[in-house]
Amino acid sequence: MLVDEVAATLPAVRGVRDVPGRDDAVALALPGPLAEVAALRTAVAAWVVVHLDVPRPKSFASPEHLRRIVDAVYASLRVAGSSTFRFEAAGADSAVFARLAGLLHEATGLQHDPDAGDLVVRVRRGARRDATPGARGGRAAAREVDPGWDVLVRVGPRPLSARTWRVADFPGAANATIAAAVARLAGLRPQDRVLNLMAGSGTLLVERLLAAPAAAGVGVDLDAAALDAARANLEAARLLARPPRPVLVRADATDADALRAAVTEPLGGAADVVLADPPWGTLHGSHADAPRLHAGLLRAAHAVSAPGARLVVLTHEVKVMERVVRDAADLWVPRSATRVFAKGHHPRIHVLDRR
Ligand SMILES: C[S@@+](CC[C@H](N)C(=O)[O-])C[C@H]1O[C@@H](n2cnc3c(N)ncnc32)[C@H](O)[C@@H]1O
Repeated sequence: MLVDEVAATLPAVRGVRDVPGRDDAVALALPGPLAEVAALRTAVAAWVVVHLDVPRPKSFASPEHLRRIVDAVYASLRVAGSSTFRFEAAGADSAVFARLAGLLHEATGLQHDPDAGDLVVRVRRGARRDATPGARGGRAAAREVDPGWDVLVRVGPRPLSARTWRVADFPGAANATIAAAVARLAGLRPQDRVLNLMAGSGTLLVERLLAAPAAAGVGVDLDAAALDAARANLEAARLLARPPRPVLVRADATDADALRAAVTEPLGGAADVVLADPPWGTLHGSHADAPRLHAGLLRAAHAVSAPGARLVVLTHEVKVMERVVRDAADLWVPRSATRVFAKGHHPRIHVLDRR
């Protein structure tokens, strides 16, 4: 998904490739201004990567290596200023990193704040490489070479998932990068009437409407405070006043009749895309209530959606959702379930097609 977004958003990018040993990152060369990466919605963060062929971080202090790290820091600072930095590295509190912190401070004027520094400098071993230099005595000899070190400087003082539109904090709000993925997994069609159930502060609705035009956008929640937060976020994203002029309504998203009565008019008919992020933990509900809530959600979503509609549910209730999807096989055909990572949790994104 990120690779597709990179191709669409940054056409000048070259050499997009997997990062060995990591399934959550891609590497690329960006000939244009670095600031362009800030437009990516499905990336958690962008980093300038400097690979140093040295055996240990102590060698970073030598002038030719330090120059490259400082250049990467300046490249990040040109995108968004910071006044502090911190390391994310094994041994970040060691004497070696204290020395490096001093050198970076001298070269850039940034203050080292080990706990809360804005500009993040991550240091880790390079990708493992095998050298297979060819035949010796008729046999290929494979030997491991020192992988060196990668120094990654984050572009910007915040992760890309920290959106400027998020002006209203809401406990349990979805991560915006995951929400951007949810929107894309549903497919982005300009004729879609989009319904966000259990919308909370509107993260899924905002990210869907920012991703592509839509014919309608409606957010539903039981909680008036949640709807206030969603309204503030939609406003900050400059979505309230522009087509499709999203509407927020208070209704029970597990009650098919009440939901139909509340959303049919603002949607202009039935929904083509339903996005939902049901409660998890004890913030907005309880684990004991999760089966009823998830089952009711799937039934009500079916009742208010059009033939061929797509339902995408982001849920932490992994077992509950699996059971409920099996039980709702007469309503929804499961297409995919993707495990994602969010602050130590592993929620799933379920994509379902309406029967
Ligand atoms: C995990 S939060 C959603 C967070 C949201 N995605 C965001 O980014 O802010 C779940 C939401 O479901 C709402 N909710 C719980 N039961 C509901 C119901 N039966 N009908 C509608 N909304 C409900 C809660 O009020 C809460 O706002």
